[in-house]
Amino acid sequence: MIFRIVLLINLISCDSGTFVVNVTQTFYQAEKNHNITLQWTFTTKPDSSSNTLFIYCGLITGRKTLYDLQRGVEVSESQDQQFLGRVQFDKDVLREGRIRLQLSRLRTEDSGLYLCKVKTDYGGNVGECRLNVTAADHPEPQRPTVSPEPESQGWIGLYVGLGLTAAAVLLVTLCFALSRCFTKSTD
Ligand SMILES: *[C@@H]1O[C@H](CO)[C@@H](O)[C@H](O)[C@H]1NC(C)=O
Ligand SMILES: *[C@@H]1O[C@H](CO)[C@@H](O)[C@H](O)[C@H]1NC(C)=O
Ligand SMILES: *[C@@H]1O[C@H](CO)[C@@H](O)[C@H](O)[C@H]1NC(C)=O
Repeated sequence: MIFRIVLLINLISCDSGTFVVNVTQTFYQAEKNHNITLQWTFTTKPDSSSNTLFIYCGLITGRKTLYDLQRGVEVSESQDQQFLGRVQFDKDVLREGRIRLQLSRLRTEDSGLYLCKVKTDYGGNVGECRLNVTAADHPEPQRPTVSPEPESQGWIGLYVGLGLTAAAVLLVTLCFALSRCFTKSTD
C-alpha cells in the first residue's frame, strides 16, 4: 500500500532533470546470515533543508519496504516484517547525499531487486540494485578428514616399526641360516 502511494508521489512529481540517484553497486552477492550494506548516492544541494527529504527503499519483488524517510523523519512502522530489526540506516552520511543501509543476518528471501527513490524540493530520482543471497554451501568450516589424526599417526608409526623389526629379524635369521649352510658345505 505504502509502496503504491510512494510510487504515485514519485510519478506525479517526477522531476529528474539533473537530479541523480546512483547505485554504488548494481549487483550484490552475499551468503545467508552474513551482513550487507546497500549504498546509493544522490544529488545534494548545500542550502536544502532535511525536512523536505523523502527516501523510500524497498524490495520490488513482493513490494516490501526496507526503509522509509518522510520529510526527514523515519517512518519505521512502514518497514516490512521481513526486515524488522535487521536494518541499520546511517544518518551521518545522509548530509553528503549517501544512503547506507546495512541489512544483517541475511535470508535467502531477501534476494531480489531493490530500489531507492529520493525526492527533494530540488528534484527526485530512482536507483536500483540487485541482491542475491545464497544459502551457504559450507555452513561450517570443514575439518580435514583425509589426513589422519596425530594419535592414529602414532599407531601407524608403531605398526610400520613393528613390521620393519619383524622383517629385520626374519632377514637376520635367514642370513644366519644361509651362512650356516655355506659354512657347512665348505667344511
Ligand atoms: C553519479 O554517477 C555519475 C557517473 O558516474 C557521476 O558523474 C556523478 O557524480 C554521480 N553523482 C552522485 C550524486 O553520486
Ligand atoms: C552483522 O551485523 C550485526 C548487527 O549490526 C553485528 O552485530 C554483527 O557483528 C555483524 N556481523 C558481521 C559478520 O559483520
Ligand atoms: C545467485 O547466485 C547463485 C549462486 O552463485 C547463482 O546460481 C544464481 O544464478 C544467482 N542468481 C541471480 C539472479 O543472479
